[in-house]
Amino acid sequence: MKPVKVGVCGLGTVGSGTVNVLRRNADILSSRTGRNIQVAQIAARRPNPSCDTADIPVTPDIFEVANNPEIDILVELIGGYDVAKKLVLTAIKNGKHVVTANKALIAEHGNEIFSAAREKNVVVAYEAGVAGGIPAIKALREGLVGNRINWLAGIINGTGNFILTEMKDKGSPFADVLKQAQDLGYAEADPTFDVEGIDAAHKLVILAANAFGTPLAFDKTYTEGISKVTPQDLQYAQELGYRIKHLGIARRTEQGVELRVHPTLIPESHLLASVDGVMNSVLIDGDAVGQTLYYGAGAGSEPTASAVVADIADIARLIDTPQVAVPPVAPLKDGREVPVLSITDVHAACYLRMSAKDRPGVLMRVTEILGQNGINIDALLQKEGQESGGAVDIVLLTHDIRESLLSAALKEIEALDDIIGSVAHIRVEHL
Ligand code: HSE
Repeated sequence: MKPVKVGVCGLGTVGSGTVNVLRRNADILSSRTGRNIQVAQIAARRPNPSCDTADIPVTPDIFEVANNPEIDILVELIGGYDVAKKLVLTAIKNGKHVVTANKALIAEHGNEIFSAAREKNVVVAYEAGVAGGIPAIKALREGLVGNRINWLAGIINGTGNFILTEMKDKGSPFADVLKQAQDLGYAEADPTFDVEGIDAAHKLVILAANAFGTPLAFDKTYTEGISKVTPQDLQYAQELGYRIKHLGIARRTEQGVELRVHPTLIPESHLLASVDGVMNSVLIDGDAVGQTLYYGAGAGSEPTASAVVADIADIARLIDTPQVAVPPVAPLKDGREVPVLSITDVHAACYLRMSAKDRPGVLMRVTEILGQNGINIDALLQKEGQESGGAVDIVLLTHDIRESLLSAALKEIEALDDIIGSVAHIRVEHL
């Protein structure tokens, strides 16, 4: 049979890893898919010394690949939005299957891209976009296909996880560890996407769309980063038997779907609590299987290439079967309009930290406000303040409470003359 011809656009970290894995493991891939998979063209502005491109035609023009009639599968690894979208849509228009690691593109423009792919009956696959080498999309689409997914939760940004891990282990403040993450090459010069939760939100909406069969809803996702978490929060959480992790959470409820990314206290005995450093992990709860947990590298050249190559292999297996047998690897065919719940309608337990003037009756006034708003206290710590001046830290864990009620109570507490500044508020999940 003639080989399946792949065109790789972008020869950066993931592109070079992909070419290297495809070449190194060509024999394994051929025996597993029944097809030879050949890198027939690469589009790159400059060579990458970590990748041997000998015998492969290289062009500086990515659209040459999208318009090359020889190419069966275009692999988009250039990143970004506008040009990547145009490239992918051109490839689809030309009847090519597409594999991408671009979570931002899929999360924000996926509905349009999948619709174009369905019209041309081609596959758009994006396993590498979510949690790097972890086959989380495949788990949802294949291994768990018989399940109604109840919820999923994941540590899906390695940079953020590294920062929280270092802050906990060393007691260092956020800004210092961020600088360290940048020096180590984990965080970008502009770290906003990683530390403010946007990258995790991109991944979460893709997971949720696959889990629930709903359209991609990035603009409706609640996103909160880790920049306000302090070493004290990590320490107090530990004293209460918890760890703070930056989680993406998607949950199906009677009222709609919860989509939220935020720092979260989880019990220290939970397996997710020991996912440290740059590692990623995804926990999925299905009605038949119960909970399953996936762990691995969320980034890096070959871990991400592993997922890109898996998508290429899937397409290679099916490419010459009648086209109706090739399902578009898109999250939905029958996307129902399921509402995404506003964060104010979410119920969660909460960790609260406030700095209070050390004088009689403060605790009573705080707990009175919580009680009046129907908020039940689960645990309480009072600590000497970090700075002199008579301030003390009050730390509380609440039982589950509707977010809108909690916000109202926090406004009242912050208005007390006893309380200095705002109240830090981190949600708690028992998973
Ligand atoms: N910047 C991401 C992370 C990796 O730190 O997890 C690519 O999504």
